[in-house]
Amino acid sequence: GTEPHAQPRTRGVNAPTRAAIPDRHLRTDRWWLAPACTVAGLLAFIGYSTWRAFSDADYYHAPYVSPFYSPCLADRCATMRSGPNWDLFGSWWGLSPALLILVFPLGFRLTCYYYRKAYYRGFWSSPPACAVAEPRARYTGETRLPLLLQNAHRYFFYASALVAAVLTYDTVLAFRDESYGWGHMGLGTLVFLANAVLIWAYTLSCHSCRHIIGGRLKHFSKHPVRYRMWGWVSRLNHHHAKFAWASLISVALVDLYVYLLASGAFDDPRFF
Ligand code: FES
Repeated sequence: GTEPHAQPRTRGVNAPTRAAIPDRHLRTDRWWLAPACTVAGLLAFIGYSTWRAFSDADYYHAPYVSPFYSPCLADRCATMRSGPNWDLFGSWWGLSPALLILVFPLGFRLTCYYYRKAYYRGFWSSPPACAVAEPRARYTGETRLPLLLQNAHRYFFYASALVAAVLTYDTVLAFRDESYGWGHMGLGTLVFLANAVLIWAYTLSCHSCRHIIGGRLKHFSKHPVRYRMWGWVSRLNHHHAKFAWASLISVALVDLYVYLLASGAFDDPRFF
């Protein structure tokens, strides 16, 4: 029947206290486009990065090292380069050294506030879009395991800031050629530079970073330096989603660039 009391007492949009609207949603735009693009983009990246991380080859071509393999924490690549090699794991680590370091940027992006929104919508339809109800009747948010672990985001921020510093160091080293010394510049140095800028833009625009810098202050007037830094981060934070995609693409492109050089597909065009 159509009488309110005759409806089954269910949760969510079908709860008795909600307006009884027969349509699944009232949106007339292509609301599914954004989640569909998220799924396509993330699947492409997951496919590419999985192949590269497990390949354990073609990640170094002087003076460039792939960001997927830096810093190198295993013995098996310690002699390959002059960049950051902290042989913390010794020779017992037999798998690809990329797996040791990728857990940090992976965890950072997996727990990122923006990516959470994007992949909850794209992969889980929870909800698929604004004003489009999710298929599940129950919603526990991030209050229970495993999603409770999303709260670890700020610790991944600290680790990823270190990784970003290492990638910056790699970018500096890209300007030094073994035979010509400092001042080397090729197309690769520009690719590395662009990636380092985008990685920092993504890292510093993080919501946790914004809170670490300006959160829990009672009076901004008593903390002028933090207030100013908080203002900068807030402005970056506004573009966080854009930086998330731009840096995801750039880090894959840098790796692809090193792969093409190391596998002999082409030579780095040099300007100096
Ligand atoms: Fe996206 Fe922290 S990296 S919110």
